[in-house]
Amino acid sequence: VRVGVAGANGFMGAEAARLLLSHPHFELTLVSAGESAGKKLRDVRPGLDTDLVLQPTDPSLFERHCDAVILALPHGASAPIAEDLIKRGRVVLDLGSDFRIKDPEESFRWYGRHAPRRRLLEEAWYGLPELTGPPPEASRLIANPGCFATALCLGLAPLAGQPLDKVRVSGITGSSGSGVSPAPGVHHSTRATSFVPYKPLEHQHLGEVLQLLKGKGASFEVDFVPHSAPLTRGIFLTLFVDMPADDLYGLYFSAYEGAEMMRVTQGPVPLGAVIGTNRTLIGVSGTQSSSVVFVALDNLLKGGSGQGIQNLNLLFGRPETEGLPLHALWP
Ligand SMILES: NC(=O)c1ccc[n+]([C@@H]2O[C@H](COP(=O)([O-])OP(=O)(O)OC[C@H]3O[C@@H](n4cnc5c(N)ncnc54)[C@H](OP(=O)(O)O)[C@@H]3O)[C@@H](O)[C@H]2O)c1
Repeated sequence: VRVGVAGANGFMGAEAARLLLSHPHFELTLVSAGESAGKKLRDVRPGLDTDLVLQPTDPSLFERHCDAVILALPHGASAPIAEDLIKRGRVVLDLGSDFRIKDPEESFRWYGRHAPRRRLLEEAWYGLPELTGPPPEASRLIANPGCFATALCLGLAPLAGQPLDKVRVSGITGSSGSGVSPAPGVHHSTRATSFVPYKPLEHQHLGEVLQLLKGKGASFEVDFVPHSAPLTRGIFLTLFVDMPADDLYGLYFSAYEGAEMMRVTQGPVPLGAVIGTNRTLIGVSGTQSSSVVFVALDNLLKGGSGQGIQNLNLLFGRPETEGLPLHALWP
């Protein structure tokens, strides 16, 4: 399968390109960028050993060279390109937020902009394989979940059906979650010696999380406070759940039994054990009355490009884990 990446010099796009360059069944055939078009990918991302030159993000080029296209573009930039590519008969996987929230009013509430093409929004498959299953065979557009959203959904969905009023969640993210361009407030230098909460109780990923939880029949509220941590990669959540720890462990264990990229354990989990992998670790600690659930994943892999390749593997009939790293670097 010939796969192209739009936005290949950004954090997400470069990670997608890295995975595709060593994938046994997918071939990276075209890379594009915005301002960096015309440069060799290896000149802007020296760790990627390829002669591919970054092209302008032109759908006709992708039509000529690709069967599927991964869009790793800023919010709002994907929708028109996705529509054009789909008209040209190409499969699109969007790593951005343009097609994740189905209800246009909810989309406006969380992103402050109007939802793109309504027909495409209805058609888009929200792909979080452990919870939604594989994309249907005829899918033309996959909306890949956000990084915090992936961790929140994996941590909260097994609680649907439990008699809970509210689940409180504290989360941290590394600086790569803010993209490659340094800006005041998100630049790694300003975060490396600090720890900052942001968007308390109103992070935009809550929109897609609540949408998925509603579909699972969950009725509890979610309070979520994210923090910027002095890390480069990684998402780590702590969920506070008023249930006995033994019951909770059983719940998570059976929810993810057989899911190849999930590990459920008793006790805390280390974030370092998932960095560089497409795995999610879930740990459960607590007493008979209250418990905490920990969720750890790599934002650029399971929280983004890794999950994107997982979705494409499933869509193109490949083994789910093909080409995906499952073992972490250490230390
Ligand atoms: N970072 C994460 O952890 C993460 C996780 C999940 C999802 N996402 C989503 O993935 C998308 C990309 O995120 P990122 O962190 O990789 O961002 P990024 O590092 O800022 O990269 C953005 C890329 O888009 C290109 N670009 C910008 N405007 C463009 C345009 N009009 N046409 C074509 N290319 C354009 C840029 O190229 P030039 O530099 O050449 O202009 C750059 O390659 C976002 O929607 C983000 O929300 C990110």
